[in-house]
Amino acid sequence: MAKIQPETLNLGKDLPKHIGIIMDGNGRWATRKGLPRKLGHRAGMERLRGLIRFSSDIGIEALSLYAFSTENWKRPKEEVGALFELFMEYFLSELDELHKNGVCIRIMGDMSAFPQRMQDAMAEAMSKTASNPGLKLNIALNYGSRAEVVRAANILVKKGEEVDEEALMNALYTAGLPDLDLVIRTAGEQRLSNFMLLQAAYAEFVFTDETFPELTEELYTGCIREYQRRTRRFGAVVEKK
Ligand code: FPP
Repeated sequence: MAKIQPETLNLGKDLPKHIGIIMDGNGRWATRKGLPRKLGHRAGMERLRGLIRFSSDIGIEALSLYAFSTENWKRPKEEVGALFELFMEYFLSELDELHKNGVCIRIMGDMSAFPQRMQDAMAEAMSKTASNPGLKLNIALNYGSRAEVVRAANILVKKGEEVDEEALMNALYTAGLPDLDLVIRTAGEQRLSNFMLLQAAYAEFVFTDETFPELTEELYTGCIREYQRRTRRFGAVVEKK
């Protein structure tokens, strides 16, 4: 695919550095079409491929995706199994392409709960791409923000150093990355659901009624444009755009 220049989309220079996506509505998308839910997740995965490539092409610095929360274990065993199969398929089929495009993959979450072969695939994806200079792709798997903060607190306790904001932020999975500028949640819900609470402290939120499999590049670009129309204040008084 030819590299898309932000100029051709008229997105300008004011791109969000770090975007988070809460990928909701795969199940509803499938149910509406009379399909089993697992086909909704497959459609979500196909959409994800496109959006990752697009984000990388337009020069987004970091993209964080909520793929499997610590609460998602409550889903029927069959659905959890189907999701794991999809994650495996994704890592196996996309790794070379992502690597070639300079994408750096980071898994956020407790991987020890996953089957060994999945842990191996994720570890390989991370180590192979660790020093890549392109899009920082963070995939939240068995992730919860509060658990992440507890993990960070324990890392800091072990170090025995005095804790300040910088030390806390650097003990999160997103160490070294900018805060979230924009959080997109699809499928009509307007909540964070324990996703990157600290990193989203000053983020702008855009909610779409469309489900995740319907989040086309066009709609995603529309979310970025909506972000660009917002006036960010970070607690201060700022002149209107
Ligand atoms: C939420 O929709 C979606 C998920 C729990 C899974 C997200 C997974 C993917 C997009 C598949 C591919 C991911 C990777 C990282 C390769 P939902 O099932 O809660 O939808 P519903 O609210 O309509 O039931």
